[in-house]
Amino acid sequence: MTRTRVRHCCEACGAEAPKWLGRCPDCGTWGSLVEAVAPTARAATPSVVPGAAVPLASVGTDPGARRPSGVGELDRVLAGGFVPGSVTLLGGEPGIGKSTLLLQSLAAMAAAGARCLLVSAEESPEQVRLRAERLGPLPGELLVLAETSLPYVLAHAETIAPDVLAVDSIQMVADPDSPGVPGSVSQVRDCAQRLVRYAKERDVATVLVGHVTKEGTLAGPRVLEHVVDTVLSFDGDRHHALRFLRARKHRFGPTDELGLLEMRADGLASVPDASAIFLADRREGSAGSVVAPVLEGTRPLLVEVQALVAASSAAMPRRAAQALDASRLAMLLAVLARRAGVDLGMHDVYSSVAGGVRVQETGVDLALVLALVSAHLDRPVADDTVVLGEVGLGGEVRQVPHTARRLAEAARLGFRRAIVPTSTADVSGLTLTRVPDVTTALTPLGPLAQ
Ligand code: TYD
Ligand code: MG
Repeated sequence: MTRTRVRHCCEACGAEAPKWLGRCPDCGTWGSLVEAVAPTARAATPSVVPGAAVPLASVGTDPGARRPSGVGELDRVLAGGFVPGSVTLLGGEPGIGKSTLLLQSLAAMAAAGARCLLVSAEESPEQVRLRAERLGPLPGELLVLAETSLPYVLAHAETIAPDVLAVDSIQMVADPDSPGVPGSVSQVRDCAQRLVRYAKERDVATVLVGHVTKEGTLAGPRVLEHVVDTVLSFDGDRHHALRFLRARKHRFGPTDELGLLEMRADGLASVPDASAIFLADRREGSAGSVVAPVLEGTRPLLVEVQALVAASSAAMPRRAAQALDASRLAMLLAVLARRAGVDLGMHDVYSSVAGGVRVQETGVDLALVLALVSAHLDRPVADDTVVLGEVGLGGEVRQVPHTARRLAEAARLGFRRAIVPTSTADVSGLTLTRVPDVTTALTPLGPLAQ
């Protein structure tokens, strides 16, 4: 038996409410609740029970051979490629390069013999062809379908039986049987759910492109991220060429890999030497600038940590952390005051990581501490030095994972010295200064009292 009940669903965030309200109780948007009728299934016991419980040990572990995406950095983030039957959501701001990345990948997969169908709901086939011509040899085998109606998309997919199905974008397709206008939460969710079902039933690797709103969430956000297997976010500064590709959720691999791409006139290209790009604009010999070898996934990256310290007359001096963890900055300032006698309580403190990578690991602690004191004393840290280590509340300098790999990257880029935790093993090409605590690490900067 099936009953229907009326519920109200927020068009902005997907939250549900039992009755109509002028303002969504979840996200606070006014006038966004619409009526949606949902069937509630009353479980009538089926006479034939589908599926069967199996011993865990007899379950196969191979999620199907991965299909390399044809774009090296995309494969890096996907841990090898697209898994058949899986659904990947590629999210990013409009204009960041999602369609370009998708087309490059589909072209490569089609050239490698895969049957690929691109459902272009935003651009005409002519526009897709023009774009493809800019990107390289025309992938003649790639099938393009300009369609926005989901039932038609699925009908075409049934006859074409592609190995890879891509929908650009999920916000532009709509199902006439679902409530709401195209792009609304209910439409996006219903369409995505039907595509997920199709992908699983037909074992098709499926990619959905999703635009991200300015608040940084995918329209129809939480609902979509739950139904897909993989969520990729593609971002970067639209005015700069560098693009970052990350997996925010991945059922078939780790989520900490970073893909680095560069938007060129002929499409997206892998960035072979990321550290060199991040350090390209560095001004040598400037106080408040320290290079730290951080780890993004399995890739070591050298980044420039910058600090600026200025006397302040405000009751609450400013603390700014750009691309760094603000609470970590606060903690390090407290450690500096209590353990090293450097009190910046009457100063505005600005800190950042240049280049656009967000550093969330503690391996950058000691570099930030040195940058702060270097800025405060206006004495630079030597240009050929990298700084690595986590700082504890007692002011002690602790070891971080994969030190050897990080320091090898520093040596490769021409750095000659490193300030590191005491237990660090030798690295060829680098002279190590092993420090037990923050105060010892600060000695190269000279006397701390000004
Ligand atoms: P696009 O892939 O259309 O972005 P999205 O699908 O995320 O909205 O890329 C848009 C931008 O990329 C556009 O401003 C032009 C630029 N671009 C290049 O610089 N080089 C290229 O080869 C291509 C195809 C696009
Ligand atoms: Mg696009």
